[in-house]
Amino acid sequence: MTNINKQVIMDSRPVGMPILNNFKIIESPIPEIRHGEVLVKILWLSLDPYMRGRMSTAKSYAASLNEGDVIIGGAVGRVIETKTPDYKEGDIVEGFTLGWQEYAVANPSLIRKVDPSLAPIQTAVGVLGMPGMTAFFGLLHIGKPIPGDTVVVSAASGAVGQLVGQIAKIAGCRVIGIAGGKEKCSFITDSLKFDASIDYKNENIDEKLKKHCPDGINVYFDNVGGKITDAVINQLANYARVAVCGVISQYNLTEPEPGLRTHRSMLTNQATTEGFLVFQFAQKYHIGMKRMAKWIKEGKIKYKEDIVEGLENAPEAFIGLMNGKNFGKLLIKVSD
Ligand SMILES: NC(=O)c1ccc[n+]([C@@H]2O[C@H](COP(=O)([O-])OP(=O)(O)OC[C@H]3O[C@@H](n4cnc5c(N)ncnc54)[C@H](OP(=O)(O)O)[C@@H]3O)[C@@H](O)[C@H]2O)c1
Repeated sequence: MTNINKQVIMDSRPVGMPILNNFKIIESPIPEIRHGEVLVKILWLSLDPYMRGRMSTAKSYAASLNEGDVIIGGAVGRVIETKTPDYKEGDIVEGFTLGWQEYAVANPSLIRKVDPSLAPIQTAVGVLGMPGMTAFFGLLHIGKPIPGDTVVVSAASGAVGQLVGQIAKIAGCRVIGIAGGKEKCSFITDSLKFDASIDYKNENIDEKLKKHCPDGINVYFDNVGGKITDAVINQLANYARVAVCGVISQYNLTEPEPGLRTHRSMLTNQATTEGFLVFQFAQKYHIGMKRMAKWIKEGKIKYKEDIVEGLENAPEAFIGLMNGKNFGKLLIKVSD
């Protein structure tokens, strides 16, 4: 092992859509670990839309990065040195703050062990990790689907959306997925067995929602916000639940977008809207992970990954995520 740690830093703060110049690859020595710490060799990075918030100074649950900081994000790695009895060399671990680098020093309280016998280890940042738990708890606890309900999910072929739709099917619902482009739409109906899809880039969303949801929408799992959400809110059913998971259409705006006034629809349909962050369910993750792992084994849940090779390609892949270039859970394979 050389003593070099390749890292990706935020070189300048993005304004609007991030560009490659906002990132820089640097090399620094691999840090020494202190008593109680472990050194992790990063194998997989998780690229997630919320990380755009870390790059801005706006109020957020995730701390802002400063210029020059290593990009912080979820990762899966192998323990290669340890100064705590809690971890041994060779353990596979997942951590939310390991970051875009080849080696990370980790505090044991911020990582967890991954069971490699359960599924491929990168699922610890996918279907059996944060996106999976977001879909599971966000749909079941916030969306509260009832068998027979019509569930609409946006960004439907993505890390969270693809799982939301499949869990809603397991819960006995009709599922309509909204996604960008023909290929993504065919995938969610043909492979994932959603009941219908709407290609928001090429189809009239209002008309298609009317066609596929003649009795209105009982549950909307919102990953995108903006105009897509305006269209869905206009067609809610009585007592509908709107689970506000993400607003990716807004993350790169420099000025707030004027929106629809939704309250009339919320009032007349006696609907509920609730924003949530997956961390509120942290105490129950073990339940969600066990259930998701069982569904994967039974073939009831499939998951699509979009794998990009090489740490140095993370910035371009992240920009792609903001533009809908990813098709499934976006991962960077850093090392074997
Ligand atoms: N609340 C929480 O705790 C929590 C946890 C995890 C994720 N999230 C949120 O959940 C959402 C989905 O995350 P993910 O990890 O599953 O990402 P993802 O869906 O795998 O990837 C993002 C997708 O968003 C779509 N998109 C990008 N720009 C868009 C725009 N302007 N309008 C409409 N769609 C757009 C693209 O799909 P198309 O090609 O289909 O447009 C893109 O592939 C994000 O908003 C994220 O912030 C929230």
